[in-house]
Parts: sequence; C-alpha cells; structure tokens
Amino acid sequence: MSDRPYAIDQLISAKEIAARVEALAREITMHFAGTDKLVVVGLLRGSFVFIADLVREIDLPVEVDFLEASSYGDAMQSSREVRILKDLRGEIAGRDVLVVEDIVDTGFTLSHVLHLLQARGPRQLKVCALLDKPSRREVAVKADWTGFAIPDEFVVGYGIDFAQRNRNLPYIGKVRFTEGMGA
Ligand code: IMP
Ligand code: MG
Repeated sequence: MSDRPYAIDQLISAKEIAARVEALAREITMHFAGTDKLVVVGLLRGSFVFIADLVREIDLPVEVDFLEASSYGDAMQSSREVRILKDLRGEIAGRDVLVVEDIVDTGFTLSHVLHLLQARGPRQLKVCALLDKPSRREVAVKADWTGFAIPDEFVVGYGIDFAQRNRNLPYIGKVRFTEGMGA
C-alpha cells in the first residue's frame, strides 16, 4: 500500500504551526507555574519535532523523557492493540507530567499510555496533542491542550510519517493518492 504513488497537499503551514506552538506553550507555562520540575514525555516517534519546538517555548524548568508505543507499522489503520516498545528512563511518582503526542486518532494509543502512567502515581498527568481527529475517536480520551482539530485525513510532516516517510517536512500535509487519476 505504501508504494502507491501519492502527493502531499499542505494543510497547516510551518508559520501556523509555530504560532500555535507558542500559544500552547504559554498556556502550559501558566498551568504548571510553580512546579518544581515538569516532566515532558514525548511519545515516539511522531512527536519528536513537536516536543523539540514546544519545550523551547515552555518557560519553566523541564525534564524530557520518551516513551515508545507500538505504532501503525506501515498501515494507515490503528492496530488497536498497543504495546510499549520503550519505557521511560525516569520515575514519575509524585511528579507533574505532560505527555506530548502527535495525533489523537482512534484514541487507543493515548488511552493505553495514560492508564499506564497514571498507575505510577504522578502528581498530575496532562496531555498536549498537536493534532486531533475527533471524528475518528473510538475510545473516550481527550487532550488537555490541542494544537489543531483536523478532518479525517491521513497527514504527514512535522515529525509525522507515512510508512517512515515525510517526517522532515516543515509543514503538515495530507496524503492524496494519485494512482488512477492520470497523474
Ligand atoms: P490512535 O491510537 O488511533 O489514536 O493512533 C494514534 C497514533 O497513530 C498517532 O500517535 C500517530 O502516530 C498515528 N496516526 C494517526 N493518524 C495518523 C495520520 O494521519 N498520519 C500518520 N500517523 C497517524
Ligand atoms: Mg504517535
């Protein structure tokens, strides 16, 4: 499926992303003001660009940690079965934790990760997701901060991939298959 030819149509520009990231970071800074040391947890791999930009706009002492949950593989559909491939390095008991996710789609990944982390007894556990596809939700879960709500489109760029491609695009675009369209 991933070798079908496709084009990418820009959905959210680099400039729009930067402005939104700055606004999110301002709200997050206000929320966690006074926190001893915020633990920012990036969900690999899709959040790596977003977390890099976000933490640089958060005006608080932060620790950065990563967790990798099983992904789509090369499919465009959620496997609905989430496994932890790489766990956090640090302890989060009693800590203020912000989970940073690229996209909340069906909600299976985020819901699984939140249950796992909640069981470790953080002082507070919040979520910032860059993108949300609310129309695709199958598990009730919601980010505390969301960058952009988007329609049911498969997107790439700004860290987000299609079968490991296009993560390095500076903007977010939607995948449009061109086969059989005279392209
Ligand atoms: P969920 O478990 O269905 O909510 O899936 C969440 C994960 O699937 C996200 O963190 C992404 O890694 C991946 N994902 C969901 N939608 C897209 C997309 O449009 N493009 C690329 N990856 C996606
Ligand atoms: Mg992800």
